[in-house]
Amino acid sequence: MLAVEMKHINKTFGPVKANQDVSFELEQGEIHALLGENGAGKTTLMRILYGLYRADSGEIVINGKKVTIHSPKDAIAAGIGMVTQHFTLVPTLTVAENIVLGYSNKMVLSQKEIEKDVAQASEKYGIPVDPSTLVKNLSVGERQRVEILKALYRNARILIMDEPTAVLVPQEVDVLFESLVRLVKSGLSVIFISHKLVEVMTVCDRITVLRDGKVANTVKKSETTQVDLAKMMVGRETFGVQRQSAREASEPVYEVTEITLEGKHGRKVLDKVTFNVGVGEILGIAGVSGNGQGELTEVLNGLVKPSSGTIKINGKDITCCSPSAISDCGIGRTPQDRHEGTIGELTVAENLALEHISNYHRKGMLDRKKIQEDAAQTIQEFQIKASPGDQLRKLSGGNMQKVVLARALSRKPKVLIASQPTRGLDVGATEYVRNRLLKERERGTAVVLLSEDLDEVLALSDRIAVIYEGSIRGIIPAVEATPEKLGLLMAGAA
Ligand SMILES: Nc1ncnc2c1ncn2[C@@H]1O[C@H](COP(=O)(O)OP(=O)(O)OP(=O)(O)O)[C@@H](O)[C@H]1O
Ligand SMILES: [Mg+2]
Repeated sequence: MLAVEMKHINKTFGPVKANQDVSFELEQGEIHALLGENGAGKTTLMRILYGLYRADSGEIVINGKKVTIHSPKDAIAAGIGMVTQHFTLVPTLTVAENIVLGYSNKMVLSQKEIEKDVAQASEKYGIPVDPSTLVKNLSVGERQRVEILKALYRNARILIMDEPTAVLVPQEVDVLFESLVRLVKSGLSVIFISHKLVEVMTVCDRITVLRDGKVANTVKKSETTQVDLAKMMVGRETFGVQRQSAREASEPVYEVTEITLEGKHGRKVLDKVTFNVGVGEILGIAGVSGNGQGELTEVLNGLVKPSSGTIKINGKDITCCSPSAISDCGIGRTPQDRHEGTIGELTVAENLALEHISNYHRKGMLDRKKIQEDAAQTIQEFQIKASPGDQLRKLSGGNMQKVVLARALSRKPKVLIASQPTRGLDVGATEYVRNRLLKERERGTAVVLLSEDLDEVLALSDRIAVIYEGSIRGIIPAVEATPEKLGLLMAGAA
């Protein structure tokens, strides 16, 4: 029995053919992966299924019945739920309120009643949540669980998950997969989007690969390999980066000394973090997510003031500078969240110019022509699938990420703070970004690479620092680093 049939779906956005004659089938009780490069049309297809976009043509059949889906309301009525990366929860309400919100048809519900209701649902579906906690106090992984439970509470039998693991730490990914496997056993069907081939090969039954808006293939997991999948997505099979051998340390350009940040209740979120980076060196900072990387990035980018400690570039103290002053000192950054520091309503060209707008002032006027021209060149250089005049929010996730990186690199920074630079990128784009970072290194940039992807850290870094519970547990030359050694440090072993 098929849970979902999408037949001959077409969707264009102006000149962009986001979906072309796409046919897709989801069996009941299966986990089906949607794979494809950035901009291949995965999110578009799922937004059509969930009623957020309307297809130009094509048909949708749910459980054997042809349906018309014009809004998420129609989708929910058809038993479809969607969990996106950007959550739709209200932070100031409790978990229970968020789940019941806009769904229950009783007029008045007591706090107690809804909490009991949600506790029951949590038990029934095996998704642990605390009904009375405020959503704003939850971690990303916990919020995602609330989103899933919210969909199930609304009787979703078909669950769409658009890159659910991109925001999760490895342990949370395991928990998610366990829940999904359990839920499909009880009849749920899942569409799972991810760029991580390992995950797809772990949890999915079948895989559909989209390429340039068309279906390239649908295969069973048991009949494919990661190499095959990569080939289907991009038409080639070898990926990887070639680094020159690791470097000897040179004069440090960027020095971070005993940075401490106190969080709530005086707890030290960062504890005397100390490292330096030299000319043409990549310092990788590895660690399991949630050990202070986010806070460290914010401090280095000037968004949060540390409680104590100093940051220097070429000997100049910039500890308490504003983000724009830091950027003027020659420090580029790619924030961990690509929505930070970009404005979705503005065009790609405007976003590229955003952080150095003063370069485009001429006789008190903005030189719009120059902004467009520079953008066109950057777009070409970084192979971004977009035009200068496109609104940024209309770009696929991976292409947005490229805009952020391009903006940082186009200023030829002396120091680059790259935080999770390949999160949400497809294999081809990931390779591209990694090679760009190596190119920056060749150019002499001092690069701080904060990444939860151990392979990435190992492939690119000259030296590797491990952060654990807010402090640096050791800095080792890349040549001496092995996954085992780093894994131990990442787990807090002394
Ligand atoms: N609302 C929109 N307006 C204009 N163009 C859009 C819109 N939504 C998507 N597109 C375009 O459609 C194409 C497919 O985008 P989509 O978001 O479906 O890709 P994706 O496969 O989800 O990519 P990613 O892996 O980067 O998330 C892209 O070229 C994108 O720029
Ligand atoms: Mg997408």
